[in-house]
Amino acid sequence: MKIKKICCIGAGYVGGPTMSVIADKNPGIQVTVVDINEARIKAWNSENLDELPVYEPGLSEVVARARGRNLFFSTEIEKNIDEAEMIFISVNTPTKTYGKGKNMAADLKYVELCARQIANVATSDKIVVEKSTLPVRTAQAIKTILDQTGNGVKFQILSNPEFLAEGTAIQDLEQADRVLIGGEQSAEGKEAIQALVDIYAAWLPQENILTTNVWSSELSKLTANAFLAQRVSSINAISELCEATGADVSEVAKAIGMDSRIGPKFLKASVGFGGSCFQKDILNLVYIAKSLGLDNVADYWEQVIIMNDHQKKRFAENIVSTLFNTVSGKKIAFLGWAFKKDTNDTRESAAIYVADLLLEEQAEIQVYDPKVKPHQIYTDLNALNTRTEEENKAQLQVVNNPYEACKDAHAIAVLTEWDEFTTYDWKRIYDTMKKPAFVFDGRKILKEEELKAIGFEYYAIGKA
Ligand SMILES: NC(=O)c1ccc[n+]([C@@H]2O[C@H](COP(=O)([O-])OP(=O)(O)OC[C@H]3O[C@@H](n4cnc5c(N)ncnc54)[C@H](O)[C@@H]3O)[C@@H](O)[C@H]2O)c1
Repeated sequence: MKIKKICCIGAGYVGGPTMSVIADKNPGIQVTVVDINEARIKAWNSENLDELPVYEPGLSEVVARARGRNLFFSTEIEKNIDEAEMIFISVNTPTKTYGKGKNMAADLKYVELCARQIANVATSDKIVVEKSTLPVRTAQAIKTILDQTGNGVKFQILSNPEFLAEGTAIQDLEQADRVLIGGEQSAEGKEAIQALVDIYAAWLPQENILTTNVWSSELSKLTANAFLAQRVSSINAISELCEATGADVSEVAKAIGMDSRIGPKFLKASVGFGGSCFQKDILNLVYIAKSLGLDNVADYWEQVIIMNDHQKKRFAENIVSTLFNTVSGKKIAFLGWAFKKDTNDTRESAAIYVADLLLEEQAEIQVYDPKVKPHQIYTDLNALNTRTEEENKAQLQVVNNPYEACKDAHAIAVLTEWDEFTTYDWKRIYDTMKKPAFVFDGRKILKEEELKAIGFEYYAIGKA
């Protein structure tokens, strides 16, 4: 089966970049990304490529090549669903904030709405692809909903989880370690799998395209994120031990990372992981294990989250105790708000929680981030409901210049590992700060010796 038209529901951090690359590499397939969010679609269609709603290195070039040729962004959801032979569901699956499974289970209401919408409008057979990260066995629920249409339309459900990392999304898509496609093991299922394999084979070697049963595919995505996050929490746990013993976590990470059984990646100690996925996917895994009565499995993975929360809190508390046990009325500069460099995404960013704890201690915070807009920073803080919007606005300011952020500050906290932070004139920054001038490097990116020579009191995670 040769696919000619694809519709992707959800023009977010996954749907946008993924479909842009699929369209770029398959000029013969018409790819339309649809979303209920009109502003988002408008931004995807913006003439000025700096205004795309997602910032990713290399994305604007891909969009420039494919948009208007065979890549389209639209709010016409029903028409595009009906016309496509293959429909990707790439909507958000946040942690539930209500009812059974509150704060743990994935909220599948957006996915279910998509399935119902597809069932309502489809007049021809469709391959429906789960691109969103979903609890294992969700494909069954989607199939049950789709099969209730009663109008003779046949559906095949595939699981095709996305492994891209924000900040390197285009590179991850263009040179994927692997693509995973799970499908039914029947003749029709295998035909659907092959149709999707063909799309990826336009640019990836066949051996990088894995096919499995649906449940393995769904569970592999949750497992991959759990393993990655576990490495971060593991090295962060060791960072606290380093601070108490005089060991240096960077040296320990290097020493263990050179063991080929361990490997060097994801061993950088930090203020804690963020992002929209790690926490929610582990909580989801914990919830699934608990629901199946597998309490030991659930407790094991929950510890990864507990350690991460501890690391963020520990970072904030260290700032308070080092600044002579009070930050009340003191200005603290935040360098970075995004959850990692090279993205404008702030979901679950450690910066939000560190700021919240410091604001509780009556600190005044000045934030500079090269890509995050002020409105987003206030939205993140207000969502915690710790204090009123007016109080957040009064205690935290967002500036568009790093030197201004650091002026008159008692301390600087580095929350994101943006490359540009290493290139600043640190002597100039030091001269404008209150003394003693402290730097708390939550990402271990600054040059310790250089800062100390200037006069800074420098603290990095994982070093006594
Ligand atoms: N962000 C990542 O790095 C990443 C990586 C891998 C997998 N994932 C998974 O991919 C999925 C999407 O993540 P994201 O970061 O792109 O989310 P996102 O919030 O950026 O985008 C989701 C989009 O779906 C739209 N949407 C929701 N319901 C809709 C509906 N019924 N019809 C049309 N549009 C609808 C929303 O308006 C939003 O624009 C999630 O399940 C996530 O876990 C994310």
